[in-house]
Amino acid sequence: MSKIHVAILCGGRSSEHEISCVSAGGILSAIDRNRYQPILIGITRTSGRWVLMPEGYPLEIVDGVLPSVPEDAPEVNTDIHGFSVGGKSLGVDLVFPILHGPYGEDGTIQGFCEIANIPYVGSGVLASAAAMDKSFAKSIFASHAMKVAEGIVITAEKWESSRATCEALIGVLAYPLFVKPARGGSSRGTSKVHNPSELSDAILEAHRFDRKALVEEGVKGREIEVAVLEVDGSLVISQPGEVIIDEKFEFYNFEAKYLDDATTAAIPAPLPSDVITEIRAEAATAFTALGCSGLARVDFIYSDEGQIIINEINTMPGFTSSSMYPTLMAASGITYSQVIDELMKCALTRRNSVLGN
Ligand SMILES: Nc1ncnc2c1ncn2[C@@H]1O[C@H](COP(=O)(O)OP(=O)(O)O)[C@@H](O)[C@H]1O
Ligand SMILES: [Mg+2]
Repeated sequence: MSKIHVAILCGGRSSEHEISCVSAGGILSAIDRNRYQPILIGITRTSGRWVLMPEGYPLEIVDGVLPSVPEDAPEVNTDIHGFSVGGKSLGVDLVFPILHGPYGEDGTIQGFCEIANIPYVGSGVLASAAAMDKSFAKSIFASHAMKVAEGIVITAEKWESSRATCEALIGVLAYPLFVKPARGGSSRGTSKVHNPSELSDAILEAHRFDRKALVEEGVKGREIEVAVLEVDGSLVISQPGEVIIDEKFEFYNFEAKYLDDATTAAIPAPLPSDVITEIRAEAATAFTALGCSGLARVDFIYSDEGQIIINEINTMPGFTSSSMYPTLMAASGITYSQVIDELMKCALTRRNSVLGN
């Protein structure tokens, strides 16, 4: 049997470029090479060029330095006929877009694969786009009777032209607030706002990343994450994991996520069994509500009052072998290599259409 040629897409024009490269390195080290022939394609950070990365290109974190896509590798041409280098087709059978954030996790790459008629791992165009924009995802969750933090959208245009109206709308929310880019990730541009004097700076900071910001009531509680994997058309829902953040961080910010060993996970989360059952059911509801495919990590806050609040869903979560998603799946008995295999099988047998389920 000839091998399935899998294009692993990494890097990209997003603030999560380097994390994506580390995830791609993890996949390359665990993919079953008896069945799959990986082809590593990088998207450069600034120019967004697609390049063929050499076999063995270093994708690990070395002495705290994160990997990135080289600018000088041979260019890959992409068009509706697929991928080629120097006029020669790469013969890609399947795309594994291990890209996070805008131009990767947001439906754009997924749309390209649809047009080129190449199967791809993960959610379709609609689910990817809806999950990327937290304001859209929240209204879909709320319409499925899930609890979300109270909040409103403040665009840069509105903030500049009608400040008083914005402040009045925000005024009904209870402090502390969280201000974040609507289509962000890795906590970039996110601030905790303790009182009205800090509001303006926080909104300007969020607008540096996205002209659409979300202002939310802060939920005091524990951060709980659940991994969902589609296997043979059914959903495998992991045990919930709790993110344990060192007290020196005020919330799960960029430093706590990537630059510090002080963040650990408790798997399964030490919660009462009825709460665990409910959170897992809510994770399945969120996955289905958005019409996700393949995989997602669903993030909740279990509030000090005992409420299960959905915070967000990630359709292409961090995917290094030590990231939360593979760790949660491993705790459910599905190894990293098996997850990768199931995702590719799922992509090749996808039943749903371009718009999700
Ligand atoms: N409404 C909120 N209440 C409490 N904490 C929040 C809230 N919104 C965001 N946070 C904190 O900020 C972090 C990042 O926000 P999140 O919405 O998950 O965006 P990202 O996509 O960047 O991960 C969360 O993990 C949490 O620590
Ligand atoms: Mg998050």
